[in-house]
Amino acid sequence: MRRKLEKFVDPLPNLQPLKPDKKTGDGVHYEITMKQFKRKLHRDLPATTLWGYNGQFPGPMIEANRDEPVHVAWLNQLPNKHLLPVDVSIHGLEQLPIVRTVVHLHGIETKADSDGHPEAWYTNNFQETGPVFSRETFTYPNHQRGSLLWYHDHAMGITRLNVYAGLAGMYILRDEHEKSLNLPAGDYEIPLMITDRSLNADGSLFYPSQPDDAAKKLPNPSILPAYNGDTIIVNGKAWPFLEVEPRKYRFRILNASNTRSYQLQLDSNINFQQIGSDGGLLRHPVEIEKIGFQPAERIDVIIDFSKAAGQSILLKNDLGPDADPNDDTGDIMQIRVTKSLKNKDRSHLPQTLSVIPSLKQNDISGIRYLKLVGSADEFDRPLLLLNNKHWHDPITENPQLGTTEIWAFTNTTNFSHPIHIHLVQFQVLEHQPFDLEQYNQDGKIIFTGPPEAPAANHRGWKDTIEVPAATITRVIAKFAPYSGEFVWHCHILEHEDYDMMRPYMVADDDKNNTKF
Ligand code: C2O
Ligand code: CU
Ligand code: CU
Repeated sequence: MRRKLEKFVDPLPNLQPLKPDKKTGDGVHYEITMKQFKRKLHRDLPATTLWGYNGQFPGPMIEANRDEPVHVAWLNQLPNKHLLPVDVSIHGLEQLPIVRTVVHLHGIETKADSDGHPEAWYTNNFQETGPVFSRETFTYPNHQRGSLLWYHDHAMGITRLNVYAGLAGMYILRDEHEKSLNLPAGDYEIPLMITDRSLNADGSLFYPSQPDDAAKKLPNPSILPAYNGDTIIVNGKAWPFLEVEPRKYRFRILNASNTRSYQLQLDSNINFQQIGSDGGLLRHPVEIEKIGFQPAERIDVIIDFSKAAGQSILLKNDLGPDADPNDDTGDIMQIRVTKSLKNKDRSHLPQTLSVIPSLKQNDISGIRYLKLVGSADEFDRPLLLLNNKHWHDPITENPQLGTTEIWAFTNTTNFSHPIHIHLVQFQVLEHQPFDLEQYNQDGKIIFTGPPEAPAANHRGWKDTIEVPAATITRVIAKFAPYSGEFVWHCHILEHEDYDMMRPYMVADDDKNNTKF
C-alpha cells in the first residue's frame, strides 16, 4: 500500500506569521477559513488531499503580543463529506452532522465561550444549493506570558479525524520580557510542528477503520484506542531537511501528533538547552540529551551549531533498543550546518530566564483524586474513562473561581496518558509510583516509592503532562481568571474521542456561570 519514501529530500517549510486583516482599538482581527485543499507532502508522492485552516497545513501561524487581544473569525468552508472514514458509536454521535468543527486555542486563558468547547461545534451549513458557510468569532485576551500555543479542532467525538485531516496550526505569543533576553530571533528562531501520518501510494491520507468490529458484525464499530502513523511530517513535509549557519538557533517545537510521543535526540555530541515548556520560559536553561515529548506538549530549545560547521545532524526519535529496523519513525528531520555565518552570533542564552512563583505558596483549597481507568463497553471493546465517568455524566470537578487546587491523576492503566486542562497553566508537583498488580487485585493504592520531583524541564508552566502508568501525578493550578465550563482530557486524540474527556466548571457563585 505505502511507498518507501526517501528521507531528507524536501526543504523544511518556513512558517511565516499571518498578516492580520485589521487592527482596531480592541485588538487584532483575523478571518481564517477551513477548506479542503491539496498539497505535496513529499517530493515523490502525488499531492495529498487535506483539510486546513486557510487551506494550509500547518495552518497559518498567528503571532500575538501580550495584552493585545486577538479576534479570529473561524469559518467552516469544508465539503460536506468527511475526508476520512468516520466511525462513531458512543453518545449517539452518529446522529450528528459528520462535518462539524470548533477551534480550540490550546494553552490560552480565555472565556468559556471562546474556548472551543467540544459541544460548541458548528457546520458548514451545507444546503441543496451549495454550502452556506458558517463562522464563529473567538477572542483571545493574551493576558499571559509569552509562549507557543497552538490551535486545533476540538469537535465532539471527531477531533482525532479533523486534526488528522490537517486542522492544526501554531500561535506564538510574544512578551517584552522575552524580547529583552536577546534569544536567537528572526531567521534564527524556527517553529517546528511535528506530526505523524500514514500515506497511501497515491498520496492520500490513510487512517484505519475498524476491520475487527466489522468482521464481528458488532452494531457500531468502535473507534481505535490509539493510532500511530508511519511517516514523520514536520511543517507539512515528510522527513525534511534544514540548512543552518554555524551558530545558535531557537526551535519552538510542538508535538501535534494524534497519539505518538517522541524521545527527541540529536545524533551528535550537541545537547539541547531547553529554555521553555508549554506555558513559556523556564527559570533556567536545562541542558538535556533526550526530551520525552507527548502529544500537545511544546518545547523551546536552543541548539548551538557553532562547532558543527559542515556536519549533518539528525533530529531523531529514540525508539529504544528493541526498535524494528523497518520502523522509519526513529528519524524526524535532518539539519545541515552548511550555510556560512552571515553575521557574528550576538544572541544570548542567559542563565536566568524568568521568575516562576511556586503555586504551593497559595492557600490550597483541596485535592481531587482523579483516576485514569481502562474499561470496556457492552461489547467488550476498550474504553478509557476519567474517574469512571463518561463525557455525559454530570460535572464532578467544579473549583471555585480564583482558588488553588491539587489534582492527583492516578493512572491505573498500563500506559502513559498526556493529561491536559483547559484555561490554566499548572505546575507539576510530583510523580509517585504505586503497585498496579495490587491495585488490580483489590483496588488499593500501595505506593512502591516516595514522590519523585518532576524532571527539570517540567518545572515551569505546563498545560499538558505525561501521567506515567502506575503513578499518581500531582499538579497544582489556580483556577482563574474566568468562570464557566471548560474541559480536561487525555490528549491522545483517540482516547479523548472515546471517552477520556470530562467537562469541568470554574464556579463563580456571584454570577450565572456561562456554559459555552
Ligand atoms: Cu489541545 Cu482540549 O486540547
Ligand atoms: Cu487546550
Ligand atoms: Cu490517554
